[in-house]
Amino acid sequence: MRTKLIAGNWKMNNNVSDSLKLVNELNDLIKGEINAEILVCPPFTALYAVKQKLENSIIKLGAQNMHFESNGAFTGEISPIMLKDIGADFVIIGHSERRQYFNETDDLVNLKVKAALTNGIKPILCVGETLEQRERNMQEETVKNQLINGLKDIDDKNMNNVVVAYEPIWAIGTGRTATSIQANEMAYFIRDTIKDLYSLNISQNLLILYGGSVKGSNAKELMSQSDIDGALVGGASLKAGEFVSIIQNAMQ
Ligand code: 13P
Repeated sequence: MRTKLIAGNWKMNNNVSDSLKLVNELNDLIKGEINAEILVCPPFTALYAVKQKLENSIIKLGAQNMHFESNGAFTGEISPIMLKDIGADFVIIGHSERRQYFNETDDLVNLKVKAALTNGIKPILCVGETLEQRERNMQEETVKNQLINGLKDIDDKNMNNVVVAYEPIWAIGTGRTATSIQANEMAYFIRDTIKDLYSLNISQNLLILYGGSVKGSNAKELMSQSDIDGALVGGASLKAGEFVSIIQNAMQ
């Protein structure tokens, strides 16, 4: 039985005080027995401050990106060691916005996934097709290539610490959600691909998240699908009430 993971990707939003306000609200709202893992991914500048508020919380901390090297002359970059040092449990790798605006290739994504695993941080590997690729019925080929290349040289043991997020690019920030059938079909395809690349056991344990315009009102339908194990939430994770509504709906 896979435990659901609901992750908030705050993207380039929230300064330190906004971040502390949001995490305090979440701590107040998310209490008691929760049958899901909850994760927030603030911008780099707020990670340390947010971590201080999570000491007695079930909410975990994630970053939105990182460099693959441990240290050195890489002006402007943040390393896995630095993220581990401030207590990050997860890191989002290969988000479509990084692939699109910062030219991240599958090879670079692969280096980052490996570096996260080496440093004991769980990578959330993002995959997903463009609208054009879906219209040409190339979504499976696209996602399969992203998986094969992004997971190159990752062994069975490390694979147990990888999370995959399926985020169709046409559904991100557009208000246009993939239907639960479309999302589950792709989650199933991802699991099947992992079964071929690794084993049935690893594929059955893999957490597969859906991301793209998830909100309280569609979370129940999406999260109840057989192969969807959680959500990577953008815009709706910036409001405590909406994020908690997603969590509650996901657990039903
Ligand atoms: P939205 O939920 O704003 O569509 O963003 C999804 C996303 O990109 C999460 O990583």
